Amino acid sequence: MTTSQGAATAPFDKAKAKAFMATMTGVMNGGALALMCSIGHKTGLFDTMAQVPPSTAAEVAAAAGLDERYVREWLGAMVTGGVVEHDPDAGTYRLPAEHSGLLTRAAGPLNLTTFCQYVSLLGEVEDEIVDAFRNGGGVPYDRYPRFHRLMAESSGQRIDRTLLSEVLPLLPGGAEPLVAGIDVADVGCGSGRALNLLAANFPASRFTGYDLSEAAIGTGRAQAGEEGLTNVEFVVQDAATLSAEASFDLVTTFDAIHDQAFPDAVLSGIARALRPGGTYLCVEPKASSHLHENLELPMAPFFYTMSTMHCMTVSLAYGGEGLGAVWGRQLAEERLAKAGFVDVVAEDVREDRTNTYFVARRAG
Ligand SMILES: C[S@@+](CC[C@H](N)C(=O)[O-])C[C@H]1O[C@@H](n2cnc3c(N)ncnc32)[C@H](O)[C@@H]1O
Repeated sequence: MTTSQGAATAPFDKAKAKAFMATMTGVMNGGALALMCSIGHKTGLFDTMAQVPPSTAAEVAAAAGLDERYVREWLGAMVTGGVVEHDPDAGTYRLPAEHSGLLTRAAGPLNLTTFCQYVSLLGEVEDEIVDAFRNGGGVPYDRYPRFHRLMAESSGQRIDRTLLSEVLPLLPGGAEPLVAGIDVADVGCGSGRALNLLAANFPASRFTGYDLSEAAIGTGRAQAGEEGLTNVEFVVQDAATLSAEASFDLVTTFDAIHDQAFPDAVLSGIARALRPGGTYLCVEPKASSHLHENLELPMAPFFYTMSTMHCMTVSLAYGGEGLGAVWGRQLAEERLAKAGFVDVVAEDVREDRTNTYFVARRAG
């Protein structure tokens, strides 16, 4: 760990300055490439390139149904950025299988291009964030009109791959109580992907989704309607004022505590809403509460940026605590205990490297 030495007295290290020049160049190129990867995802270019043999820019554009001039310029960024390979003699471009496993829809939760979309989403509020740095306060949820759709996409690819196979086995009794028939709530359910998936698979159980966003709740309802699900309802509700008492056997939150304005009120409301002995599954970004323990976390700068420009600021916008996305395991365990949860266990899920799964029980 480095320590601050006082800029005036520390000798100037030329090699360190040179290395940092490379770091900063990487930062600029990384930010730019994130935007281009987001475009590659939205246009379907990565999905297309994963399917075709080495192809010219014109062939890639034709296969993707896109404008060749734009595709050629995009390929320039992809080749120089080390994402796509180029054969100058044949004039062809190739997306190696070793790369497509992180770039295509087929990659499921490993598809990092869905996360690249957050870079431009956060860029939309940059000036408002700068203003908040100067004047305090925050940027409210309604300043992110793309957020819920993007959140549904990025969390959805993880939920589809892991919820039934890896997450349910972490709960007491695994899926058995759901098969038998229990009452389940998902708080901060967003567009309801997790809840609808559970409702479809466990018809004897009853499911309720709560979220503050009418748009997200509308998406959840529409999806349930399309699937003909009759055992799930979606309610527009502030999670800090849940009135349910001893009504649920299982409550879940997926990435929905750290951006709350009043997380303690939400956690104690969840404890009250559970029947004695009921289970709470709290999924939160994997991190330590201590900055120096996050140095090796592969996506730590991304998390802190998401936090500053979304999770923390939306909480502060409503006069909230501003826990931030990187509130970390130690603080989460402390707050869960404070809300009255016992037997808290922090679990990992193999196909989800970015979250910790806290399984807790309301005291019986
Ligand atoms: C990071 S998103 C996670 C959404 C969803 N669980 C998922 O994984 O896709 C957090 C969610 O909490 C909701 N939320 C924030 N504050 C809330 C509050 N006070 N009451 C209810 N929902 C809230 C937001 O609208 C958003 O849908």
